[in-house]
Amino acid sequence: MSESTADDHVTFAGPADTGEMAQLARDVLPFMGALHDDESWRRFRRFGQGKHASDQYTLVVRNGGPGGHLVGFVWVDPAMLIDHNITEPWWCINALAIAPDARGQGRAAALLARVEAAARAAGIVLLYGQSVPEARPFWQKMKFSLGNPDEAVRTRGAAMLTSGERVNGTFSPSSGDSWFLRYLTDVPGSVRSGLLPVSWTN
Ligand SMILES: CC(C)(COP(=O)(O)OP(=O)(O)OC[C@H]1O[C@@H](n2cnc3c(N)ncnc32)[C@H](O)[C@@H]1OP(=O)(O)O)[C@@H](O)C(=O)NCCC(=O)NCCS
Repeated sequence: MSESTADDHVTFAGPADTGEMAQLARDVLPFMGALHDDESWRRFRRFGQGKHASDQYTLVVRNGGPGGHLVGFVWVDPAMLIDHNITEPWWCINALAIAPDARGQGRAAALLARVEAAARAAGIVLLYGQSVPEARPFWQKMKFSLGNPDEAVRTRGAAMLTSGERVNGTFSPSSGDSWFLRYLTDVPGSVRSGLLPVSWTN
């Protein structure tokens, strides 16, 4: 397993970071236009410390200490709650970006290790997100299961809504993308509802 360099400084993202985060997103996440404008990071408050399941969790990594150059970020949120009123303890890894000249040194893996630790502490049972085709091998390496490109995921066990109702749902990825999923528990009966690629549930 590769290691992060000793000179890295990882902190919760905040309003002072948004200009550099938007620049990095423009450079390496061209398909995520919503992150290209630093004002939108602030307006939609894409910050949080992951203290509970409905919180966001956004980290930045700087090389060369707290005032160093921003070389990466990860942004996680309860997307199913925000988009569909689903209150299940699932976190979506919306975006993970490392600057090209800072790759291959374990920085993304180190950020994901922090995401996993925060998720477990917040009672999250499922981490998931959408991968572009080029990133599929990375998510596999990080021990996520992958659906096929364009394959939807489906709830396995009805999901709880904020209204208290339970629903089943099917969710398609963006065109050409694949869902990636990793459960944080294998204790039987501990996951009330989850998501699985539709081909796994047929
Ligand atoms: C994908 C990305 C985040 C990886 O960042 P990174 O810091 O270079 O990754 P790491 O150094 O932590 O790599 C961790 C492991 O994954 C492997 N890996 C990294 N990128 C890989 C790739 N494209 N294909 C296969 N394996 C890959 C590394 O070899 C390493 O393996 P090891 O543990 O055996 O040493 C980075 O390339 C990136 O920002 N890409 C553009 C944005 C993107 O696609 N983000 C993901 C979708 S939102």
